[in-house]
Amino acid sequence: MWWSTLAGKLERAAVLDPVVGVAAGVVNTVLPRGKVKDGLHGRWLGHPLHPLLVAVPIGMWSGALLLDLTGGPASRVAARRLVGAGVLMVAPSAASGLADWSELGAFDKPKRVGLVHALANVTSTVLFGASWLARRRDDQEKGRTLALAGTAGLVVSGYLGGHLAYSQGVGMNRNADEQKEPVGWTDAAAVSDVGEGQLHQVDVDGQAVVLARAGGELYAMGATCSHYGASLAEGELAEDGCLVCPWHGSRFRLRDGSVAQGPATAPQLSYRVRTRGERVEVQARP
Ligand code: FES
Repeated sequence: MWWSTLAGKLERAAVLDPVVGVAAGVVNTVLPRGKVKDGLHGRWLGHPLHPLLVAVPIGMWSGALLLDLTGGPASRVAARRLVGAGVLMVAPSAASGLADWSELGAFDKPKRVGLVHALANVTSTVLFGASWLARRRDDQEKGRTLALAGTAGLVVSGYLGGHLAYSQGVGMNRNADEQKEPVGWTDAAAVSDVGEGQLHQVDVDGQAVVLARAGGELYAMGATCSHYGASLAEGELAEDGCLVCPWHGSRFRLRDGSVAQGPATAPQLSYRVRTRGERVEVQARP
């Protein structure tokens, strides 16, 4: 299919890298890691916020298009308002998308595709903005034509957004198919395998689990970072009781695997831990 060929070409388009580097630097300067960025990632929601926000302008613009095609003169004001409101609602959607995109680190392919996805959205927004202005001047024909052109840009952007999410896994919970129901306690390691301040990866019923010892306590959570799949056993223990991912710095609370700081939005699988003699046993939490 030509569209998957296009996406493949974009993934390999190293020529975009200088622009990607500059744009990501600007976004990370304006939006450093912290509460605001986490809010835009959707940490509070438990999954990325961006897909939810993009529906708002798209829905408004689709409604305007429907009125253009079927509403007649009586619906011109409503169509114009929908176009204008959609333009205004682009800002939060763009901010959340840029926050996610800027945390892709060394993953060049999704960053290149994401750049073109963003440019298509900018183009569509400009076209819908021009459509609103044309409608304000009562040039309905031009307003409709510009809205149709903006819709074409949305189709391109939507395809690339879907490619990012479903082909390249941006924003997916990497542990979604690993959710465990609590069963019995399972032998995981020797107590001596996990020294103070250390991480130790083990296999528990086919699931990679990282054991950690901090402040004399033993903890365990899934070893695959929910954000993009890094091995948390290669991360670091922080003084605030979190395990820090080595790739993009997500912080997971040792006590329950919850996300203390993004870009991850989904928690880690969490395990209860106990010792039996010289052995460490774990049990998945609900
Ligand atoms: S893989 Fe991105 S924060 Fe862990």
